[in-house]
Amino acid sequence: MQMFPIGYDEPLFRPPSEGNSLIIQVTLGCSWNKCAFCEMYTSKQFKARKEADVFADIEEFAPYASQIRKVFLADGDPLVLSTQRLLRMLEKLRATFPNLRRVSTYASPSNLSRKTEQELKLLKEAGLSLVYVGIESGDSEVLKAIDKGETYQTTIGGLNKSKQAGIDSSVMIINGVGGAVLTEQHAINSAKVLNLTQPKFASTLVLTAYKGLAHYKNRYKGEFTKLDTVALFKELHLFMTNLELENTIFRSDHASNSLVLKGVLGKDKQTFLSQIETAINDPEAMHIRKNRTGVRF
Ligand SMILES: C[S@@+](CC[C@H](N)C(=O)[O-])C[C@H]1O[C@@H](n2cnc3c(N)ncnc32)[C@H](O)[C@@H]1O
Ligand code: SF4
Repeated sequence: MQMFPIGYDEPLFRPPSEGNSLIIQVTLGCSWNKCAFCEMYTSKQFKARKEADVFADIEEFAPYASQIRKVFLADGDPLVLSTQRLLRMLEKLRATFPNLRRVSTYASPSNLSRKTEQELKLLKEAGLSLVYVGIESGDSEVLKAIDKGETYQTTIGGLNKSKQAGIDSSVMIINGVGGAVLTEQHAINSAKVLNLTQPKFASTLVLTAYKGLAHYKNRYKGEFTKLDTVALFKELHLFMTNLELENTIFRSDHASNSLVLKGVLGKDKQTFLSQIETAINDPEAMHIRKNRTGVRF
């Protein structure tokens, strides 16, 4: 049996679309690690991995260099590292993998805002071409309640700054994250942020309380009432109605979504709206899919 060349510090996460990418851990955990809904890195203390260790991991894949076209940098927010350090890693990747086409990573809007435009351009020139950004909500009140450390303005600022540098973004919005009290403003302001930033890719996930609803409510700063399935669809409908996107590849196909939507916005907006209306009128049909995936709130 052939052994995998490196060991990872678990748990390890990557976006679904990075399934064929080589994953290199350049940091461990998340430097923020406070978002109320997020348990991804709560078991880890944030740290930057030693450069020598990262380089050693990259070297381990040198024998397979010709096959490596996409690299994803983990864990939660590698762009918190200094630009010089990131540039050395990107240079090492390019030197090792001659067929490398894309380097991507997770990034929060603040990670992007803290870099200068010039720094972001240098990162893009060195090969960083896509960032996965958890907007979660465009509404400042929701963002405060979930302790995201962002606002409507900082989110727009970070996304537009990286776009200016030529770096594409894939953004995530969480359906139901503000509960019943903030559902309308969450839907409308999330759509506004997307309209003002026009990301290349966008997706919605449904809030999943991995450690139970009581735990989420404890971490949530405000009154939280969970949305039921129909209310989640209604929130999605309001969000979709307010979207004015020109050419964004839209996916709502994460395991947490009981309604799968895939297409391009604005072209497919009316189709998506009709599909959501069907789901509102017959939520039981959607439950069947959700039960098949085994995903629970
Ligand atoms: C690693 S973060 C994204 C990058 C970066 N750390 C950020 O916060 O912008 C992964 C994303 O998965 C989604 N996510 C994590 N936990 C979730 C949960 N419990 N329910 C729904 N979505 C969740 C959020 O959209 C989150 O931004
Ligand atoms: S959502 Fe992103 S920034 Fe927030 S704790 Fe999770 S990994 Fe960190």
